[in-house]
Formats: sequence, C-alpha cells, structure tokens
Amino acid sequence: MTDLSFIHRFEPGSAPGRPPILLLHGTGGDEHDLLPLGRAVAPGSDLLSPRGKVLENGAPRFFRRLAEGVFDEADLRRRADELAGFVAEARAAYGLEAPIALGFSNGANIAAATLLLRPEALAGAVLIRAMVPLAEPPAANLDGKPVLLLSGAVDPIVPEENAARLATQLRDAGATVEHRILPIGHGLSQADLTLAARWLGQR
Ligand code: MLT
Repeated sequence: MTDLSFIHRFEPGSAPGRPPILLLHGTGGDEHDLLPLGRAVAPGSDLLSPRGKVLENGAPRFFRRLAEGVFDEADLRRRADELAGFVAEARAAYGLEAPIALGFSNGANIAAATLLLRPEALAGAVLIRAMVPLAEPPAANLDGKPVLLLSGAVDPIVPEENAARLATQLRDAGATVEHRILPIGHGLSQADLTLAARWLGQR
C-alpha cells in the first residue's frame, strides 16, 4: 500500500460518484477489520481503512484512554489532528473527495472528535456506539454535515444519556443528525448494517 502516515488499506470503488468511506475500527481491530462491513453497507465506494497508532496492551486504538470511557483528551486532540492529516494525504494520493467516516466504538469516538475538531476532514459520519469524546466541545461549524448515530439501549460502555449528549453537541454545531437507539448492547448487529446501508445509500 502507498506509503502514507498510517498503515492502511485502500480499496478502490467500482461506482464513480459514490462517496469514499473512511473505516475506523474498534479497540483491538486493524486496517482489515471493517473492509467487509464497508463493502456491505457502501457497495461500490472507495474504502480507506487506517490502523490506529496507539497500542493498549498490544491492542490498536485511535487514541489513549485512562480507563474505559475515560479519555486522555490531550492525546485525543493530537490524534484527531493526525487522522485529519492522513485523510488529506490519502485524498491527494488516491484522488478522493472528502470521505464519510464509518466508525465503530473507539473508531466512532475518534470520528466524532475529528468532526468537532477538524470538520473539513469529513463529509459526514456513521458513528456506531459513539460517546462524547471531549468534555468541552470546541465551537465547530458542521454546517449541515450528515451524521448517523447508532446507539445501543443496553450498551454497558455508553450510557444512553451520553449518546444523547453527543447527538445534541453535533446538532448544536450544525450537523444534521439522525440518532437511532437499538435494543442491543455494544456489539455490532444486523440492524446496524441495515440502517447504515440505507442511510449511506441516500448520500
Ligand atoms: C473508547 O475507549 O473509545 C471506548 O471506551 C470504546 C472502546 O474502545 O471500548
């Protein structure tokens, strides 16, 4: 794969005009993990899939955390910048429009942070089991960017109130947010795939 600032995989799409998708894996995942998901929910799109650079006991992540659900916000800010830089490099290297992020868990959290800190990097986002990434959100201008937030009603990691707060922060910044709460926990489900595919199909 072209030598850019993140280890990654790039799969060129077959359908010109479909938005490119930035796949962001969960803790312990890698650049291969979400490619099948990307192909399933965004058929024909270019898929760009980096590996998180932080290691937690050997498990790749996109930023450091102090405990489950307690983030190292200084690191998170730096990593969101780094990821936005990678997106710019990849857009130049592969000739891409701004991508829509599709993130799961830790990947959804870095996507939410990147939206708030570097809104120009992303055209929108599908955030699966995301939580509030920054205690004090910056004054971002998300200017109608579309966001699909998929939460689990019985997610042991992301309390419902926290996901609702993230939806409010994104809406307050101007994003067009659809927030769906599924009767499930933190894991990915078929309902996530169905809703993400439908939503992405409208972009
Ligand atoms: C995070 O650290 O981003 C969240 O706790 C989700 C996780 O990766 O388990």
